[in-house]
Amino acid sequence: MSTYHKFYQDSIDNPISFWEEQAKAIQWFQFPSDILSQDEDELARWYKGGKLNTSYLALDYHVEQGRGNQVAIAYDSPVTETKKQFTYNELLEEVELVAGMLSALGVEKGDRVIIYMPMIPETVFAMLACARLGAVHSVVFGGFAARELAIRVDDAHPKVLLMASGGKEIDRIVPYKPIVDAALAEAQHEVEQVVVYQRDFVAAEMQTGRDLDWEDLRQQAKPMSYVELDATDPLYILYTSGTTGKPKGVMRDNGGHAVAMKFSMTHFYGIAPGEVYWAASDVGWVVGHSYIVYGPLIHGCTTVLFEGKPIKTPDPGTFWRIIEEYKVNVFFTAPTAFRAIRKEDPDGQFKKTYDTSSLRYQFLAGERCDVSTLTWLSDLLQVPIIDHWWQTESGWPMIGNMTGVELQAVKPGSAGQPICGYSFSIFNGQGQEMGPNEEGYLCIKYPLAPGALANLWGDTARFKSAYLEKFPGYYLSGDGAYKDEDGFIFITGRTDDVINVAGHRLSTAEMEEVVAAHPAVAECAVIGIADELKGQVPVGFVVLKAGVEQSEASLEIELIQMVRDKVGAVASFKRATIAQKLPKTRSGKILRKVMRYIADGKSFNTPSTIEDLSVLDQLRGLMEEQKIGQAFS
Ligand code: COA
Ligand code: AMP
Repeated sequence: MSTYHKFYQDSIDNPISFWEEQAKAIQWFQFPSDILSQDEDELARWYKGGKLNTSYLALDYHVEQGRGNQVAIAYDSPVTETKKQFTYNELLEEVELVAGMLSALGVEKGDRVIIYMPMIPETVFAMLACARLGAVHSVVFGGFAARELAIRVDDAHPKVLLMASGGKEIDRIVPYKPIVDAALAEAQHEVEQVVVYQRDFVAAEMQTGRDLDWEDLRQQAKPMSYVELDATDPLYILYTSGTTGKPKGVMRDNGGHAVAMKFSMTHFYGIAPGEVYWAASDVGWVVGHSYIVYGPLIHGCTTVLFEGKPIKTPDPGTFWRIIEEYKVNVFFTAPTAFRAIRKEDPDGQFKKTYDTSSLRYQFLAGERCDVSTLTWLSDLLQVPIIDHWWQTESGWPMIGNMTGVELQAVKPGSAGQPICGYSFSIFNGQGQEMGPNEEGYLCIKYPLAPGALANLWGDTARFKSAYLEKFPGYYLSGDGAYKDEDGFIFITGRTDDVINVAGHRLSTAEMEEVVAAHPAVAECAVIGIADELKGQVPVGFVVLKAGVEQSEASLEIELIQMVRDKVGAVASFKRATIAQKLPKTRSGKILRKVMRYIADGKSFNTPSTIEDLSVLDQLRGLMEEQKIGQAFS
């Protein structure tokens, strides 16, 4: 048995002693009395009785250990042409002040704070300041529109909303204030105070009485120390797309999360304190929470906070420049970013002008990594390119290659092998385990490892029905997969209506709600179809109400704008077409999966329950005529 296999097996056979041992790697105020227990809803909870503070672990602890003068955050923003570094000493000072500012506004342990901010240091200060006070933050990605923000406000009931006046995309400024004002007007819940960080390229108009200036408050703030929290106290809520129009509020607690962050930095990413870790993602996603902010800082690394894109800011050499400039040791991003670079610089000319020799591993996740991108990248970088699979729900990797324990073979196309704490089964619809190379539902033995979601915010019933009910005793991941004879897992894509666009997880159900609201639309289906650059993109198929006469071109423009206004630009909803009919079962369920298979040119068994077989040919003809989908473009 390899070192990896032994280590992994120990975590599955002896979870309590394994995670007790791993918990010793972080500094507790009081070590947990119960490593694994059940709460009143019969959900698993790790580290009951433990006392700690996540902000202390990410800041004060390192200063106490003599790491105060090491750079904690290297902020690099090609979109604003700004670079700034904060040592652990400086970061601690900033976070203490923001915590003081929140405290002066009455924010206390357990209160929720929404953070609608871009990739700037103040966003990190805000997250750590909430953690310091025991307030529960919920960061909302800047690419989401007002309605999405309103839904989150109404679910989390925040006391305060922290925002910046805007973000910068490649060639446009995105003012945040109109979005926040519209969201708060739409939401039922009243937010007491909005704190605005004004950026110099876009000014936010202030609403007297409700809106406060960040800088003014910071000037008056008194530094705040950390509070002692229970391991099971919530650290944050992060909303993610589910199969309905309402996102799921993934709730993560302090103790399991801190242990998982420390564990994954050491044993998965194979990086040491003092080294430089870079995740090119956004703090609005789980990758940003875990591996821009908490993981690197809890581990005592330098984290790179990058406000830019892989291309056009200013060119496809930006990633290589950052690796050289900050001597990045471990880099993590989504495959789509490299597909974008490869499209603009197929021969890697830009790479030749930079020294990337500091780089030890390149990690990829967020979507399937196609073999062609993996091979191209491997040839270019000459370091192990490591795919790994996880979700907002887990908060840290579940399948991959535990480089910190023992580097295993890389099998292109596979996300890797199971990571400690996660035991996988692949089931058919009846709950029978599939054999090698047979595809089925990817499930994980419950309880999940520490750090995985403890519950959905305020919705235990949905937590149970979405994840735990289909296969009792197992967590339903929502992905399809197969395992080969060597135990390598190959992810085949979502089995539900969640899609992955440029590494961003989105719900087609949310888009359908918006499209269906158009007065001309009788019914509709939004499906995710394969796309060379973004992995998947959404396409809408609409059936018009009887008697409605509207040109397809004008309807498409209106629907695109509606989805942009209601869900956000990040949805990348750019195609809609009129269909005569949608394929359905006799009970009226739209066969979205079949539609997707036709668009992607995949073979499938025609469901016996189909209402009208001829609709499939009609649809094939429509896609061919409109050049929709890889099969027809
Ligand atoms: N705020 C406001 N708008 C945003 C935004 C943000 N934070 N992030 C994206 N958008 C907008 C974009 O400007 C774009 O708008 P447009 O339709 O007006 O052009 C739209 O949302 C779609 O964005 P995106 O899917 O990112 O496409 P793109 O063409 O701008 O960039 C890539 C393509 C590949 C360069 C980009 O998707 C990328 O860097 N992907 C990496 C993904 C990643 O880091 N994922 C995190 C999970 S690990
Ligand atoms: P998110 O919750 O936004 O991190 O998205 C999680 C989803 O992204 C998973 O359920 C998968 O569908 C997909 N995903 C993440 N990583 C990978 C990967 N390495 N390979 C294939 N799909 C992935």
